[in-house]
Amino acid sequence: MVLQKALFLETPSNGEWVVRTRDIPKPGPGELLVKIYATALNPVDWAIRAFNLKLIDKYPAILGLDSSGTVEEVGEGVQGFAKGDRVVHQGTFDNDGATFQQYTIVSAEVTAKVFSLLPFRGTFTSIPLCIATAAIGLYNDRSQPGLKKLSPPWEEGGKNLYAGQPFVVFGGSSSVGQYVIQLAKLSGFTPIITTASLHSADLLKDAGATHIIDRKTDIPIEVSKITSLPVQLVFDAVSEKDTQKQAWDLLAPGGTLVLAGRIIKVDTAKYPDKTIIGDVFGSVRVPGGRELGVSLYSKLTQLLADGSIKPNRIEVLPDGLAGIPAGLERMARKEVSGLKLVAHPQETA
Ligand SMILES: NC(=O)c1ccc[n+]([C@@H]2O[C@H](COP(=O)([O-])OP(=O)(O)OC[C@H]3O[C@@H](n4cnc5c(N)ncnc54)[C@H](OP(=O)(O)O)[C@@H]3O)[C@@H](O)[C@H]2O)c1
Repeated sequence: MVLQKALFLETPSNGEWVVRTRDIPKPGPGELLVKIYATALNPVDWAIRAFNLKLIDKYPAILGLDSSGTVEEVGEGVQGFAKGDRVVHQGTFDNDGATFQQYTIVSAEVTAKVFSLLPFRGTFTSIPLCIATAAIGLYNDRSQPGLKKLSPPWEEGGKNLYAGQPFVVFGGSSSVGQYVIQLAKLSGFTPIITTASLHSADLLKDAGATHIIDRKTDIPIEVSKITSLPVQLVFDAVSEKDTQKQAWDLLAPGGTLVLAGRIIKVDTAKYPDKTIIGDVFGSVRVPGGRELGVSLYSKLTQLLADGSIKPNRIEVLPDGLAGIPAGLERMARKEVSGLKLVAHPQETA
């Protein structure tokens, strides 16, 4: 039997993290087995453990939703991938598809090759969950009646389609926020106004923000100093009480507020003409986001190659999989700013 190392969360509700071996799964039809070079940490990974979120139904559980690595085995019927290809893809909430391990399974149609001429860097692993959340929040089909679907910039006719329309993102320096800004730029929104600590200003300008507002100020007032146009679209990548309230207040009548988190502080009855999309499910692996995800992944290699999408900055944690729990604790203590924490599973002792 061929074994790999994986980081298990043994039980729900603050269970123990343990690194041990498990089988390497086999790819089914349409799937790839990927040898993970780098995986990334996300807030949901510590929140599942701390709050017993019902995203996991079996324990011991392997978490982790981002992977960059090399194709190890190609499943039946897969076209366009070969052993050794360098790829990036999202993980899932089940032990074979999660990414806090050395090998994982993914559907080929939501996997992108990363160009092989450049040195292979773990920065690509900052992309999958966060760009999925940004893209699904901005461009997915809307279930609410009357709500307009926006065309993604990577599809025919989508680039710069919203030129001249203002856009505000709360939490631009967050991992999700940086991809929201990049996609908004490709869509042509202008100005692109974001909130952050000002030490991240250069990073956010590089991503495409035109104006950075200190997160500690009165955001609606600061936005009104920048544009007099009605703000019809706001993305709150922080989704805390205060950011939600301010985002809702600055949104123009008829506008849409997208939240990366759940709705906590919005009096929707007060403004019946505004729409809120809460708790975006940022996965290209499940039916709700799959169609948009297949479309995005069909273009992601090109978007990365021509620099339209740039990976976030990363910090590589020591000790492979064993270094992940300490990284998650730093995230829970809100000690991570403007970058993605990454682990290299193959470096696990
Ligand atoms: N729905 C989904 O599928 C999905 C997927 C991924 C993430 N999320 C959620 O989206 C949120 C962001 O996740 P992430 O991975 O992007 O987080 P992250 O990178 O760990 O977030 C840290 C960043 O948040 C910024 N921030 C915190 N409070 C802020 C505030 N009040 N105003 C402006 N910026 C603030 C910090 O900015 P400064 O250091 O500049 O102050 C820091 O750079 C989390 O709530 C996460 O659970 C949801």
